[in-house]
Parts: sequence; structure tokens; C-alpha cells
Amino acid sequence: MVTKTALSGVSVTMFAAGRPRADGGGRRRAPPAGGTVGSAAYRDRSMARPATIHVCSACGHVAPRWMGQCPGCNEWNTFVEERAGGRDPSPGARGGRGGRAARGGVPAAEPVRLREVRAAKVARLSTSIGELDRVLGGGLVPGSLVLLGGSPGIGKSTLTNMALGHLASAGHETLYVSGEESAAQVRLRAERLGAFALEVPMLAETDLDTVLATMEAARPAACVIDSVQTLSAADLTGAPGSVGQVREVAGRVMEVAKRTGTAVILVGHVTKEGSLAGPRVLEHLVDCVLQFEGERERTYRTLRALKNRFGSTNEVGVFEMREGGLVEVLDASGRFVSEATRAPGSVVLASMEGSRPLLVEVQALVSPSELVPPRRVGNGIDRNRLALVLAVLGRHAGIAVGSADVFVNVVGGVRIDEPGADLAVALAVASAVRGVPLGDESAAPLAVFGEVGLTGELRTVGHPDRRREEAAKFGLHRVIEPAGNATLRAAVRAALGSARRAEAA
Ligand code: TYD
Ligand code: MG
Repeated sequence: MVTKTALSGVSVTMFAAGRPRADGGGRRRAPPAGGTVGSAAYRDRSMARPATIHVCSACGHVAPRWMGQCPGCNEWNTFVEERAGGRDPSPGARGGRGGRAARGGVPAAEPVRLREVRAAKVARLSTSIGELDRVLGGGLVPGSLVLLGGSPGIGKSTLTNMALGHLASAGHETLYVSGEESAAQVRLRAERLGAFALEVPMLAETDLDTVLATMEAARPAACVIDSVQTLSAADLTGAPGSVGQVREVAGRVMEVAKRTGTAVILVGHVTKEGSLAGPRVLEHLVDCVLQFEGERERTYRTLRALKNRFGSTNEVGVFEMREGGLVEVLDASGRFVSEATRAPGSVVLASMEGSRPLLVEVQALVSPSELVPPRRVGNGIDRNRLALVLAVLGRHAGIAVGSADVFVNVVGGVRIDEPGADLAVALAVASAVRGVPLGDESAAPLAVFGEVGLTGELRTVGHPDRRREEAAKFGLHRVIEPAGNATLRAAVRAALGSARRAEAA
């Protein structure tokens, strides 16, 4: 009896998480598995542990355990772990004014006219990385949550480490939390970046509570969590990176960030398909979603805002990965134009990336194929858009690619996401099919922009004047665009015709 009491007494303090069996049976140490619990102390302990529930994300069915298939709607893999009773429904917790017209015990709140809402102008934190600040809309907003997504190896850790380094050098408190790399690994990277990057306080930790406690204590102006998929809340049983965990981590980090005024950058990995896998569920929660794109093997990377509560989306920053970290590419247009080939199948697209014009080279290759159906490969452009342009080219402009393979590439690893790219794709393919180079008499590349409609017409796109100006600035004086070319057929004739004349001369 003495042994048992002693054991159980010890166990309560020692096996807080393990909950050993108290049925003894001669065994001095019980296996740390769940089961019937003898003493009242145990029972209290186990009841105090916050329970979690699993909720079907499709139909809302609640179950105590995770299940593969929802018994409510028969969908598979829809269960997401949540803390039971996570929301506090008491009116006091919501800061309502209380009083009149209580309905079911909940007092009505009083709406405030927008004009009377106080909105203090907050000073933004400049990261000293111009392209990053611009994409953020002018720097980091205190108390905001930024989600930075990108595939592994693209440079997320490098970019955030540089940003914090600059902030620390400017005298701001910072904190870099790494759940992926050891402190030594992070230091090695920082050494490559320079002395400024070594100023950042660093925490290698994956436990959410520890991270939050550190944030509360240190009260940094800016904090990076690298990555949100590696942190885990101890009271959820799901694996780190699961939807439930990621949501819980972000929710609780946001709560601390808002309270302490810390600007937090959550780093998130994306899957091969390009979607922010786990973090996708965070997009509505965070203030800003940044996507870091490009190909690991290529030098150019683009940073774009997919959502921004404090600035414009569609802003794009261009970076280059060098030996000493990421370098801003300020004259991206100039670089891409000077690298542009004048061969058949190449054309320069005058695109708009947010408020900034950008000239990029679009290349096409058309080659006979034995495959059925033939290949249609687009790098840096939407595949469906490519299919559409090829269909219109064949049907309305007399350029049929038939059973040939078609490859279209936006040079430099840049991704173009605007309808203005249609005409560039169409003319690059037309030039490749006919084997005729585009471009004017001085052999400067041809600049184009415009959307292709399904009936073969060319449609205007935003900011034609700024696109023309950018082209002229870099010596591209011949521009083919919807103004002056009503149809795709006319544009193809103008582009190929002028090239032929140039060749004959
Ligand atoms: P990293 O920031 O670790 O990528 P992520 O956090 O997105 O996974 O760095 C990506 C790559 O950048 C890595 O393969 C090495 C390279 N790199 C450089 O070329 N130069 C540098 O100065 C640094 C720090 C990294
Ligand atoms: Mg990393």
C-alpha cells in the first residue's frame, strides 16, 4: 500500500503528461499510457487537461477523435483539430457597451460612425530593403501579421534575416524564431549576409507557448517565425504543420502581436503545385500575404503581394540571389531587354507589375511532335491562357500549330499574371512558326502588349501609356498594341510584315 501511494504521489508530479496506470500489480513503474485512473488526484489532473475536438471543415460535424471519413457528409480528410470551447461567448469578453435591448442575455453593441472612429496614423518600420518595403506598401505595420510564402530554397530565410538585421542595426528590438534550423545554421547564413545580420537575437524553438512567452518578454518591434509549419501548440494533438496546428499557431501569435504591437512575419512553405499548403487557411486571418517566386536554379526572384490590408496588391519586387544574399534588381527592364535575343520566337512584353512597368522577354519554340496530344508547356504564364491564345491564333489569325509541340517561356524565371501577356505569347508563337524574327530595322526587339479576345479581337489593357514609355526608355521604339491593331490577325501581319521588310532591306 505504501508503495502504491508513494508511486502515485510521485507520478502526479513526475508524469504530468504521461498519466501512468495506477493498477500496480507488482510493477513499480507503469507504462505511460492512458487508461483507468485510480486516485482523485489523477482524475482532476486529467480533467484539467484542455480537451480538443475535431470538426469537419466541410459540414461542421463535431467528433471527439480524428476520423478519415466524416459520418456527417461522407467527405474524406476533412477533420481539423480545434481546442474545445475556444471561443469565449461571454458578452464581457467582447467589450460590448452592454445595457439596452438585451436579447437572450447578450446586450446590443452600439455601432460608431466611421468618421468618428479613431485611427491613429502608425509609423511603419522600414526594413531598408526597398523592394520589400514597396511590396509591403511602405514598410512593416506595427502589430500586423505578414505571411511570406515560397517554395523551399527560394530565399525566405535569407530575406527575413536581412530585414531583421537592418531593423536591429537601426536600433529596433527584433526576434528571429527558427523552428527549422539550429542557431548555428542560422548563424552561418547570417555570416554570409554580413555583420548587420549577426545583430539579430535568435531563438531555435518549436514550442508555441515558449515562443509566445519570449515575444511577450522581449517585446520586439519585429519578429520572424520561420516557419509557421514547424511550431506546435502542446494542447493540440495534431502534428506540426497540420491545418489545426497552423491555424492555432497563427491565431495565438496574432493575439500577442496585436497586444504588444509587434510586426510578425510568418514564413510558410508552399507545395510543388504552388499553393500555400497548410498556410492557405491563414490567408483570411493575416493582414498581408506575400509570395516569393522564381526557380531555385535561376537568379531572379519576384516578391509579390497577393493580399495587403495596408497597401496595394500586385506590387512586385525583383531580387537576385547572389553570394552575399538577395540583391534588389532596380533596373529589371534594362537587364531583360539587354539579354533579349533577336531570334525567331522572341518578343519583349511590356507588362505592368502593379504600379510598375516591366519589360520581359517571352520566347516560344514550336517543333514537330510524335505525341498525341502534343505538348503545350508554359513557364511563367498560365497554361489555360496559352491554350486559349493558340486556339485563337489558329482560328482567327491563320497561324496553326496543329500537332506540333509548343513551349513558351518567360525569361529570367519571372511569372506574368496579366491578360496583357496574351499578345506577346501569340506573336512569339507566330514568329516561331514562320521562322521570322520580329523587331525593327535597327534590330531592337519588338515590344508588345494586349489581351486576345475569343473572337480574334485585341482588347485594351491597363496603363498603355506607361508601358509605351517604359519601352521607349529602353530603346524599343516599335510597339504593337491594341491601339492601331483591332484584331490579332492585323497584329500578326504588322509584326511579321515589318520584320520581312527589314530583312529584305
Ligand atoms: P534560404 O533563405 O535558406 O531559402 P528558404 O528559407 O526559402 O528555404 O536560401 C536559399 C538558397 O539561397 C540556398 O540554397 C543558398 C542560397 N544563398 C545564396 O546563394 N547566397 C547567400 O548569400 C545565401 C544566404 C543563400
Ligand atoms: Mg528557410
